[in-house]
Amino acid sequence: MSKITFFKPFISDKRKQHLSIVFTNQDGFEALSKKLDKHTQALCLERGFVGKSKQVIVVRDQNGNAQSVLAGVTKDVHYTEGSALYKKLSREFSKDMLDKISFEFEIGALKKDQLERLHAGWGWAAYRFDVYKKDTDKKKVPALLLSQDVDHKRVEALVESVCLIRDLVNTPANDMGPDELEDAAKMFTSHHNVSLKVIKDKALLTKNFPMIFDVGRASDRRPRLLDFTWGNAKHPKVTLVGKGVCFDTGGLDLKPSEYMITMKKDMGGSAHVLGLAHMIISLNLPVRLRVLIPAVENSIDGNAYRPSDVLRSRKGISVEVGNTDAEGRLVLADAITYACEEKPELLIDFATLTGAARVALGHDLPALFSNDGDMAYGIQKQSATNEVQDAVWNLPLWKPYREELNSTIADINSTGGKAGATAAALFLQEFVAEDIEWIHMDVFAWEVNGRTGRPKGGADTGMRAIFAFLEKRYGK
Ligand code: BES
Ligand code: ZN
Ligand code: ZN
Repeated sequence: MSKITFFKPFISDKRKQHLSIVFTNQDGFEALSKKLDKHTQALCLERGFVGKSKQVIVVRDQNGNAQSVLAGVTKDVHYTEGSALYKKLSREFSKDMLDKISFEFEIGALKKDQLERLHAGWGWAAYRFDVYKKDTDKKKVPALLLSQDVDHKRVEALVESVCLIRDLVNTPANDMGPDELEDAAKMFTSHHNVSLKVIKDKALLTKNFPMIFDVGRASDRRPRLLDFTWGNAKHPKVTLVGKGVCFDTGGLDLKPSEYMITMKKDMGGSAHVLGLAHMIISLNLPVRLRVLIPAVENSIDGNAYRPSDVLRSRKGISVEVGNTDAEGRLVLADAITYACEEKPELLIDFATLTGAARVALGHDLPALFSNDGDMAYGIQKQSATNEVQDAVWNLPLWKPYREELNSTIADINSTGGKAGATAAALFLQEFVAEDIEWIHMDVFAWEVNGRTGRPKGGADTGMRAIFAFLEKRYGK
């Protein structure tokens, strides 16, 4: 039913009627006010407009025609201020008017990065997931004419990447199984002119991905590994691995309903690596990128893998299954082993891996683990800056806890220990070659309550933080 595309409807350059939006903060309002005509000054006074964050007024002539818009922002300029503005303007204007006008931001005293955040926030607020609803064309969409003062490619990539993650995660599992996730990857690779390799079903066994096969074998929707590469072979190799569990029932260790209900989002890691790849490719970061997605459904059947089974992994390590609901780490382990075989300089995985990471950090803060502590701390620090505004938090890859994963009959147990997120990360580390820098992101991929510019449902968590880090490390 649903078809994944890149999100664009908030951008318009074809309309004749333009309306400019002038931004001010509280400190700058006095100076701005002096330049305004008497009528506008009076309007500001009457409405109490002083340039406070998220204040908006539409200036109209005697006939009621809109002349311009004044909008208050903080000094830092937050993404959400672009989103809040979008929302306010949707209320201020009729659908007929909105279909005729393009809004345009005036750079004024703003810096380029601040203007960029306002554009991106606007685009994120325009997102709708309404493919399953009727009457969608009645929705109001304030359209934006991208400013000459921002990098259009960058703004578009930011909005498209975030909305791609949302679309992929929001699409229910009946329309987003391993087949459809492959279709989405195919759409992505065709868009970027690269080819997609797929290793599917029994070929996973002959090509030696036994754990991807075992986790996915109980589902009619056959397991597979998606694999593509982009960029100049001479550039540093960066590989992204994303957990693509299209639905996680828990397997024979079946999840109770209250936990299963959100498990369409268990392919959120794969959505994140596609979003991140879209940023990297669109902005032409000088890296040789590879993306690996083990796409499976963790289902039940007479043929399902069982708790206490001992699985053989691609790496040759035998794994005792502690719990069939800890399936993500198994499929990631084979993909990570494969990734390391071509010795990338940097390996990054994204996964909705543990409930324990949420107990530690809540919904909004992704847990970041790395075998390079300085790098991890650097990413954490950068993620909270004004430029990024996508905080992530480093958790310990605490070696002494490795023994809690000891198995009496196999090389390792897939579960064990109290610190669940660390245990999962330590399990994955067993499959990472020692000389490879590795970042593991345990993410939620979901917005629980819904906020301005961030609707309830599938959400990006840490994707932009990692992009900012990559851009700093490899950018021009
Ligand atoms: N997909 C879940 C983790 C998850 C649950 C992420 C809820 C976000 C929200 C994962 O496959 C899982 O079920 N993990 C188990 C591991 C346990 C059995 C060791 C968990 O976290 O409970
Ligand atoms: Zn699970
Ligand atoms: Zn899972």
